[in-house]
Amino acid sequence: MSQQTPAQPSCAPPMLTVVVPTYKEAESVAELARRVSLALEGIDWELIFVDDDSPDGTPERVRELARQDPRIRLIQRIGRRGLSSACIEGMLATSAPFLAVMDGDLQHDETLLPRMLQTIETENLDIVIGSRYVEGGGVGEWNAKRHSMSRLATRIGQYLIHAELQDPMSGFFMVRAEVLRSCVRRLSGVGFKILLDIFSAAEPPLRFRELPFTFRQREAGSSKLEQAVLWEYLLMLAQKVIGPVIPVRFIAFSLIGGLGVFVHMAVLWPVLNLFGTGAFLLGQSAATLVAMTSNFFLNNLLTYRDMRLRGKQLLWGWFTFVMACSVGALANVGIADYLFNQSHSGWFFSALAGILVGAVWNYAVTAVYTWKRPRST
Ligand code: GDD
Ligand code: MN
Repeated sequence: MSQQTPAQPSCAPPMLTVVVPTYKEAESVAELARRVSLALEGIDWELIFVDDDSPDGTPERVRELARQDPRIRLIQRIGRRGLSSACIEGMLATSAPFLAVMDGDLQHDETLLPRMLQTIETENLDIVIGSRYVEGGGVGEWNAKRHSMSRLATRIGQYLIHAELQDPMSGFFMVRAEVLRSCVRRLSGVGFKILLDIFSAAEPPLRFRELPFTFRQREAGSSKLEQAVLWEYLLMLAQKVIGPVIPVRFIAFSLIGGLGVFVHMAVLWPVLNLFGTGAFLLGQSAATLVAMTSNFFLNNLLTYRDMRLRGKQLLWGWFTFVMACSVGALANVGIADYLFNQSHSGWFFSALAGILVGAVWNYAVTAVYTWKRPRST
């Protein structure tokens, strides 16, 4: 039998894909699509929204838009959060040669897109950045705290990537698809500093150019980056410094575990003081439970921020955390008790040894059972 080749479709892949990460931007997506479509007239484009299952109806709004315009698409991620990883997935979901990333809240200036495309092509660059800090750019009205935070983060960023980039924190840029794909496996994907991530992962150094734009005021919804920004930024820096060998979650888990040691001792110490050393087993057990609970909540808030358990899931998660760690806790209390009573080691050393054994268990087991579980919502 002769093989039949299906007829070729008449349309080629688009020249430019604009990736827009969204979380609770229902009020802005239609206007954004309208503005992008207006700005890119004459260019073959595609617009991909990557939404992390916003509860405010953003994905439904985007689907409505997509029904009217096939150039608009939606990637809806369930049980995940994270600006960087959303951008990465959007950029990998297309075969266009040029990829732009832009916020979904209308704060970035879409009219810059055609100039970005022209610049990257004619100057043969790897990446073009929409910059608030080069001549002609600006940040609109920002309060002093946000200003100084941004400045500090910018300095650290410049130091990190060894590039004279004035705005390494910008979330508005256009990159060649092959450049992104050549470094995508080295990206940390954590937090929201995707541009910084690309710059530090790329080899050889990127040929870039910054084009000025004015960061607009947010019109609807609210910024999601305020609370966790610094923490995620520090995590990403830690990842870059320590290298890809140690996963960033383990670093976070260890930091929180370290804090848990203080919580543990803070419970154990008054028990020993009140009831004497005879109460060591009781004190160690109580301290373990308290430290375990506080570690669970901190890890849920920070280490597993992108898979955070909420509401009922939080209770269930705490329960599985405690259950999964019970083996570790038994070993913890058992070893500590043995060291303290049988080997007559000091109370502090005994407790610490118990904690260490427990910690290894905790990380390995909870990574699988508490946060990695497929969830139903
Ligand atoms: N998919 C997804 N998942 N999108 C997200 C998430 C998330 O977890 N968090 C935020 N976003 C989306 C928002 O919906 C918005 O479209 C965009 O990412 C930027 O988030 P904002 O909350 O508006 O951030 P911002 O205005 O404070 O931050 C801006 O400035 C930073 C530098 O100071 C952004 O331009 C950042 O990209 C930039 O790094
Ligand atoms: Mn914003």
